[in-house]
Amino acid sequence: MISPIFLSILLSSSVQLVHAHGWLGSVTVGSQTFIGNVPNASPTGTVIRQIDDVDPVKGASNAFLNCGQNAQLASDVAQANPGDTVAFTWVNGDDGPWVHNTGPMQTYMTSCGSQDCSSFDSSDASWFKIQEQGRITPGGDWAMSLMNTGAPANVTIPSNIAPGNYLIRHELIALQIAQTEGGAEFYPACVQLTIGGTGTGTPTGDELVKLPGAYSDTDPGILVDAYSNPNADYVFPGPPVAAFVSGNTTDTSATAAAAPSSSTSTSGSCKKRRSVEVVNDVRPRTLSRVMKSLLTQE
Ligand SMILES: *[C@@H]1O[C@H](CO)[C@@H](O)[C@H](O)[C@H]1NC(C)=O
Ligand SMILES: *[C@@H]1O[C@H](CO)[C@@H](O)[C@H](O)[C@H]1NC(C)=O
Repeated sequence: MISPIFLSILLSSSVQLVHAHGWLGSVTVGSQTFIGNVPNASPTGTVIRQIDDVDPVKGASNAFLNCGQNAQLASDVAQANPGDTVAFTWVNGDDGPWVHNTGPMQTYMTSCGSQDCSSFDSSDASWFKIQEQGRITPGGDWAMSLMNTGAPANVTIPSNIAPGNYLIRHELIALQIAQTEGGAEFYPACVQLTIGGTGTGTPTGDELVKLPGAYSDTDPGILVDAYSNPNADYVFPGPPVAAFVSGNTTDTSATAAAAPSSSTSTSGSCKKRRSVEVVNDVRPRTLSRVMKSLLTQE
């Protein structure tokens, strides 16, 4: 059992290491993979809008909630079809696997209209939600934690979506310090698509939201202690998944789309998990093996 005093010293000395954070390193649309531009590096051709800072977007009304920190237009557009899987591989600031493991993932889309998304200014766009993912099992780990091994997050393009130019916006909300107002960490990223097919599905007007605009810092899924009651239903911020989205994939595998179900509930230990969560959020790769084993001892 590690002493609380030692733990607090260790954690405060690790504060400068908390900048693990991260960005969308690559995306696979159907069978094509596109590498994102490293934040602040010279841009090359890609379909992922480049950000300039791996730190999270803080504050529900932050303009960078739109597509990430100072997001810039990308030069290219990925061709996609309804029903394709879009696999988002997030990396941390050091290019290793995503480290945060507590909080939901949500996906939105917006139409770029008749123009190619490579010239579309999304700051005032109207977005609809196509997917939301919480915990894998009631009271268990969050789907986000599956990315700690380098696995992508998988999203299915609605199988009946109308063809056209769309931005798809994947968002991680890391909740490890969300019990304090303003603590929630938002990580949005936008990918430029052109979708083919003959679908007719579109959102209704009341399903459309602005980003920022859809969230408040006091929403129950944003100002929330994610550890104290894992059995509580998680309340996803923003609008519900648009009704036209059939076969929505709130499940956690790319193959389980046939059995849509909500993965938001929960049960299980929380005290024990808490110290593990903290370790994962202080860039585990910089902790020595000894420190890690101390921290995970119970
Ligand atoms: C997924 O779709 C089903 C059927 O339309 C709906 O009942 C359910 O609420 C949707 N899930 C989410 C998370 O919106
Ligand atoms: C995405 O799909 C892959 C392959 O099936 C799987 O290994 C991975 O865990 C999935 N990601 C999530 C977040 O469920």
